[in-house]
Amino acid sequence: MKKNLCIAMMMAIPMLWGCSQEAKQAEAPTPATMPPVEQAMDTAKEATEAVAAQARKTTGAAEEKVEKQVAPVEEKVAATAAKLTITVESVAIDNKNGKVVLPHKKHAEAYGCPVCHGDKKPGPQKLGKDAAHALCQGCHKETKRGPTDCNQCHQKKAKSTEGC
Ligand code: HEC
Ligand code: HEC
Ligand code: HEC
Repeated sequence: MKKNLCIAMMMAIPMLWGCSQEAKQAEAPTPATMPPVEQAMDTAKEATEAVAAQARKTTGAAEEKVEKQVAPVEEKVAATAAKLTITVESVAIDNKNGKVVLPHKKHAEAYGCPVCHGDKKPGPQKLGKDAAHALCQGCHKETKRGPTDCNQCHQKKAKSTEGC
């Protein structure tokens, strides 16, 4: 009888021990190894905000730098443009076929100077018949605006109709 009890106890010890192991495993706190979803999201959000803040700082600095570089260039351009401003409305281009009045200012404001003056400093120039026709009529045809008929450009001396 005493021997049987002894065996039973010997068998019970490992069983109890096993049970306690299982219990330990079950109550092992998960948060320590695996942060809950909310915590992970908070961390991600913090990281994103930090990156965004850094990006804002960098962009701000870059913008400031560009502004500093652009400002003098803009001043230069404005000064040049002021110097090139055409004061006379139109120039009369004299030629044997009847003078042509070019609305100089209007054209300059619409197209700038190089269109007609090329890379040279704009100033008095003699285009000649072929160059003038190619340049003036060329653009008028292309844009479908502006005169393309001889008499729209060439102002022939008005025939005297007085006294008729
Ligand atoms: C549509 C063509 C055209 C454009 C655009 C143009 N010019 Fe001219 N410009 C002429 C022609 C053609 C003459 C020559 C007129 C002549 O026979 O005297 C001339 C003459 C001049 C002259 C000398 C006559 C004067 O009025 O003092 C100056 C200065 C001048 N241009 C400046 C400019 C400037 C600056 C620009 C740009 C802001 C410009 N032009 C744009 C065609 C053009
Ligand atoms: C790059 C294009 C371009 C060039 C080059 C050009 N023109 Fe013009 N021109 C126009 C346009 C566009 C109009 C029409 C403007 C409008 O309707 O307001 C016009 C209109 C005109 C007019 C009529 C103006 C009016 O008030 O109705 C005359 C005159 C004229 N151009 C003469 C010339 C002469 C001369 C030249 C060459 C020395 C010339 N243009 C070169 C685009 C050009
Ligand atoms: C868009 C305007 C324009 C039109 C349209 C135009 N011309 Fe002209 N033409 C000019 C200009 C500007 C000159 C002057 C060029 C120069 O002398 O620098 C000229 C010059 C000439 C000359 C040279 C005169 C000389 O002194 O040697 C003749 C000829 C001529 N044109 C004939 C014509 C005929 C013909 C037509 C119609 C088929 C015509 N042009 C249409 C603008 C025009």
